[in-house]
Parts: sequence; structure tokens; C-alpha cells
Amino acid sequence: MATPYAYFKKQIIPLADAKIGVMTHAFNYGTAVFEGIRGNWNDEEGQVYAFSLKEQFDRLRKSCRIMKIDFPYENEELYSITTQIVEMSGYREDVYIRPLAYKSSEVLGVRLHDLEDDLLIFVAPFGPYLDIEKGARCCTSSWRRVADTGIPARAKITGIYANSALAKTEANLNGYDEAIMLDERGHISEGSGENIFLVQDGKIITPPPSSDILVGITRDTVMTLAREELGIEVVERDIDRTELYTADECFMTGTAAHVTPVVELDHRPIGDGKMGPVAARLVKLYFDIITGKNPKYAHWCTPCYSKVKA
Ligand SMILES: Cc1ncc(COP(=O)(O)O)c(C=O)c1O
Repeated sequence: MATPYAYFKKQIIPLADAKIGVMTHAFNYGTAVFEGIRGNWNDEEGQVYAFSLKEQFDRLRKSCRIMKIDFPYENEELYSITTQIVEMSGYREDVYIRPLAYKSSEVLGVRLHDLEDDLLIFVAPFGPYLDIEKGARCCTSSWRRVADTGIPARAKITGIYANSALAKTEANLNGYDEAIMLDERGHISEGSGENIFLVQDGKIITPPPSSDILVGITRDTVMTLAREELGIEVVERDIDRTELYTADECFMTGTAAHVTPVVELDHRPIGDGKMGPVAARLVKLYFDIITGKNPKYAHWCTPCYSKVKA
């Protein structure tokens, strides 16, 4: 039986024992930054491969700089803690690894300075997030993406997820799978937990970081694969809402969502209302890579189970 473990207050302990006090600053004010890392189960090898550890921890470090959170950890130390807790947890399925650097002082007062910081990492089982084969039916959200002048989206701050939660719940309660938010200028920004791409006239187009997106790691991965494996030009530019209505294809990317086609937006089918050929090729490539089945990209995958290491 798998039992989840966590790294908490500089020790590895069962997740059930990792508890924070109710006055913890991050819990009261949203002053934490985090990552979502997938550990992907490879059944043939009996291995869990953690995907893009370097990129994830590099982004966490940047988020910490923005939020003035001390982060005195070397990458090698972080990889070692991560693989250890995954191995000790013993899941034989896909898992989610959640590092969270947070303002740990138990004091009242809204600020970022004169507070203690800590790091926790936990692991939990995590299956599919959206139905990739069927694709997602989306709406344009009535909630705008928070601007860099409000809460910077390039930092994965817990507090900013109130914005995503408002959009996601509105979409789900109105019968859609996912919300697509516009930025304050009215251009396409991103989903509640995914970056957006469209395919038009043989090119792939995606909003730039200045559209208040979280600069996604899956976004970077897919841009690399599109250019290097499919030979398709990728352009980062502002996108209008109605460009999605007339796109040949649209898809979302994210650690949770992988590559999920958007088959309908605001009751208009996109393309022929099914997964398009570019998305289909990317989905296949991406899954092979994240489960450690494509040797060319093995450097993006870290095996967690030492007993089955070559
Ligand atoms: C708001 C938001 N945008 C985009 C993404 C996709 O980022 P990544 O591919 O790094 O998971 C996520 C998920 O982490 C997210 O929460």
C-alpha cells in the first residue's frame, strides 16, 4: 500500500503528520509560491519519471525572488528530496509533486518582509485533469487575468489562484470544462491552469509573457517540440478572442492538463470540433517523452525509483 510522504520543516515525514498552524502567514495572506511537478508512471519499467525538475525548481526560485522568500537550496538537494519522497511514497501510478515555499511565521500583518520562510514538498496520486481525447469545451471568462501590475502572473503565487478559482468555477457551473481568461487589454491570456495555443495557416501562435501568463514549462516544451520535431513555426504575439473562433486548431498546455485540445469556445466549434492533426502529433510526442520512452529527451526525465535504475 502506498503512503504519501512529505518534506516538512527540514525532515521527511508521513504527509499525514505535516501540519501547519492556523496563524501561518501564507495560509492567512496567500504568501507562498509553488510548483506542480508530475511524476509519470512507466508501467513497463516500474518507474516514476519526474518531469522537468530543473525548469520547475528554477521557476520556483524566480517566484521566491519576486515574493522575497529566502530559498537557500541547491538544485541537487531539491532533486534528491523530491525523488526520495516519491520513492518512499511507493505509488505505482501518476503522481503530483508539490513544492511550496512559504512565509511560515505565525504572526498577523500583511507584508513580505521580516518574516520567516520555509519549504515543504509533498506527493499525492494524480490522474488525468481534462479529457484529452474528447477535448475541452471552453468559455471566455468574465474574469480578467490579474495583471503584472496587480499580482505578477509569472510568479506562481498561491494567492493569485483565487483568480483562477473564480474563473474555473464560473466555467464549470455554467457547464464548460475550462475558462479562458483575457488580459486587462482584452487579449487572450490563459486558462485557469493552462497556457493557450492556436494553429492558423500552418503556424502555431501563443500569447507572449506580457499577456500576463504564467510562463508554462509545458508551453516551453511544446514550443520546442513543434519547432524541432514537427518543423512548425511558433509565433508569440497578442491574440484576439475571435481569432480562436476561426482558428484551425486550439489547444491548452499545462503540467496537469498535458496537451488538451480545445474543441469548442463560446458555443462555436473550433476547426471541425475534434482534436486536430497538430495537437494529435504533439499529444503523442509529449506522452512518450514524459513517461521516459523517448531517449532523445531522457534528460527532461528524472527516475525516482532507485531499485529499478539501470
Ligand atoms: C495559471 C496557469 N497557467 C499555465 C499553467 C501551465 O504551466 P506549466 O506548463 O508549467 O504547468 C499553469 C499550471 O501550472 C497555471 O496554473
